[in-house]
Amino acid sequence: MQVPEGVKGAPDWLPPEARVFDAVEAAFLATARLAGYERVRVPVFEQTEVFARGVGASTDIVQKEMYTFTDKGGRSLTLRPEGTAGVLRAALEAGVPRAGALPVKWSYAGEFFRQERPQAGRQRQFSQVGIEAFGSDDPALDAEVVLLGWEALLRAGLERDVLTVRMNTLGDRTDRGPYLERLNAYLDGIAGLPAEVEERRRLNPLRAFDSKAPGMAAIMADAPVLADHVSDDAKHHHETVVTLLEAEGVPLTHDPHLVRGLDYYTRTAFEYQAAGLGAQNAVGGGGRYDGLAEDLGWPERFPGIGWALGVDRTVLALRSAGAEPPLPGRVAAFVVATDTALRGAALALATALRRAGVATDFACDGRSVKAQFKAADRSGARYALVLGPAEIDRGVVTVKDLGSGEQRAVARDAVVDALGL
Ligand code: HAM
Repeated sequence: MQVPEGVKGAPDWLPPEARVFDAVEAAFLATARLAGYERVRVPVFEQTEVFARGVGASTDIVQKEMYTFTDKGGRSLTLRPEGTAGVLRAALEAGVPRAGALPVKWSYAGEFFRQERPQAGRQRQFSQVGIEAFGSDDPALDAEVVLLGWEALLRAGLERDVLTVRMNTLGDRTDRGPYLERLNAYLDGIAGLPAEVEERRRLNPLRAFDSKAPGMAAIMADAPVLADHVSDDAKHHHETVVTLLEAEGVPLTHDPHLVRGLDYYTRTAFEYQAAGLGAQNAVGGGGRYDGLAEDLGWPERFPGIGWALGVDRTVLALRSAGAEPPLPGRVAAFVVATDTALRGAALALATALRRAGVATDFACDGRSVKAQFKAADRSGARYALVLGPAEIDRGVVTVKDLGSGEQRAVARDAVVDALGL
């Protein structure tokens, strides 16, 4: 019998790379926490209609990428392909819009699932950290959200010069009708549009901007863009956001072709791209979604804005920029016992250190002292703590600095202080 392989497109993150992954996730979450975005935990699956209605029927996600199944009760459920629709569903179900104290600021982290064709940077299971701010139209909130994504990527270790922030305004829903007529008229005038584009267009003409079909980039370069056909209100909103962000030194690239792959966006839409990632260069993206609550069935308008940053892709971007953070050792201290009879004492010493907050390991299986020192080196520990019969008799531990080789005897009760960790 063979060991079954992992599922295609679902990565295993193992040590030591898993430590980089954790550091990136922690940097994203810390940025959110420092701005008062409180962590929420919502299910990894939802009723399918949350995404069908929320993400939008015209999107690649809903059309072909969702992991949807029927449970034993005959309900159609879907593994979350993204976080916004589910987090907003939870907020609406909890009555957040009517509880006052808006905007409400939340963050989340976890695994997401899309049945895409796996390639470098594109997986079927991936990890995101996201933030969502609900209940305010203030352009200062848009600026805060875009700025926090930028700060989060810098905190994770990416440098300014490998990052690009693309921004666009998609206007309000009411701006769409007249604009889509223009876009359709333009596309009608192009002979021999690829079938894939015709299909996208039938679902939502804006999706023509996402097409990677040969020749489409040139065709869309001359297409009318939504940003030129939004209301004065939306235009003014966008200008205020841009002014606020420029004052904070965020380098913005205006990209009138940025429409994003989800249907819920209105007004502000943005994406963070990192150099060196090839085709899958978006490390994060987001925008405003002022109509999403109503799409989900809420009776009133309830605006929101947020982003999600891809943890997996950010690790790849750090690697490709040679900017992976230095990895701390697996533990800080490693107990070496010169005799198997001392395994109880070794475990007790490791436990005392762990209780005091010092990450500590010890060797198993009756290894030689030499082999234990090798294991200590491999663990990344800074100190080896040697216990032999002589140490036990004297109530001391021999503390060896594995960097300098220096060693000294320290009273058993004073070890934690002596390490100075
Ligand atoms: P998204 O642009 O679809 O937005 O995904 C955000 C990020 O998740 C991407 O920039 C990328 O880094 C990562 N990602 C997406 N798909 C994959 C994949 N197949 N493999 C690896 N990484 C991937 C959203 O999900 C929106 N919910 C963001 C948002 C929040 N908008 C408003 N609030």
